[in-house]
Amino acid sequence: MTAYTRITVAPISGALGAEISGVSVADELDAETIGEIRAALLDHLVIFFRDQDLPVDRHKAFTRRFGDIFIHPNYQLGQEDKETVYLLRRPGDTSVAGENWHADTTMMETPPMGAILYALETPEFGGDTLFANQYRAYDALSDAMKAMLDGVQAAHSDIRIAGPQSGVNAKRSSQVRADADWRPTVNTHPVVQIHPESGRKGLFVNPIYTTHLDGMSDAESTPILDFLYRHQCRPEFTCRFRWKQGSIAFWDNRCTLHLAIHDNHDCVRHMQRTQIAG
Ligand SMILES: [Fe+2]
Repeated sequence: MTAYTRITVAPISGALGAEISGVSVADELDAETIGEIRAALLDHLVIFFRDQDLPVDRHKAFTRRFGDIFIHPNYQLGQEDKETVYLLRRPGDTSVAGENWHADTTMMETPPMGAILYALETPEFGGDTLFANQYRAYDALSDAMKAMLDGVQAAHSDIRIAGPQSGVNAKRSSQVRADADWRPTVNTHPVVQIHPESGRKGLFVNPIYTTHLDGMSDAESTPILDFLYRHQCRPEFTCRFRWKQGSIAFWDNRCTLHLAIHDNHDCVRHMQRTQIAG
C-alpha cells in the first residue's frame, strides 16, 4: 500500500473501495497528486470523492490525466459531445442502466480501463452502487477450478443491452442506439485476466455481456457461468456506495464489477460519466 502525502485515503469496506479527501478534482492537479490518485485506484480498485463541483469540461480534463477518453458506441445518438454519457432515471422508469452485475463495455476488443461517474442529482435515499473485487473472487476459487478456467476464453456481446431487439429504451430514460443499422459487437476475453498494472489475476466474466465460454457446448458453459456469476459478487467481495449530489466514483473496470441498485422508483437520479480507454 502506498504512503500518501497529497491526499487522504479512507477504506469503506474490507474488500475494496476508499474515500479520497483533501483534493478538488476540478482543479489543475499536479503530477504528484494525480500519481497518488492513480495509486489509490490500484490499491483500492474503486475510489470516491465527496462534495465536488465538476463541470463537464473539468470532468473531461481530469479523465484525460489517466488516459484517452473512450467513446461509448451505443450512446452515440447524434449529440455534439461524444465523450460524455448522461445517465438519467426518472419516475416511471421500470429499469435503469447497469442494474445487473457487470464490468462496462466488455464487448469491445479493448474494454475501457475505468470510468469516472459524477452525481448531478441524487435521491434522498436509494440508487446506491455496489462494487465487487474480482481479484478476491478469483483468489477464493479452489485450485481445481482455477486450473480448469486457466486458458478458457469467454465471448462478450452487447446484444442484451443495445440494439432494437434489446427493448431497453422502452423501459428507461437513458437511451441507447436501437436503429436498424445497429449490429452487435462481439469479442472474446480470457476468463482469468492478468491486470496489466498490478500483475494480479482476476475473474473477468459478467452477467450482462458474457454469452458463453468459447469452445464449450451450452450444456457445459451455462452451469459454469452461473456458478461464476453467483460466486463473483458474494457480499464479502463487495462494497456499497451511497451517493450524494457532488459525489464521484472512479473505478478500475479491469478488476471490478458494479451494479446500480434500482430501488427508489419515484426518484430522479442524474449522472455524468466519462470512460477511460484501455
Ligand atoms: Fe456500468
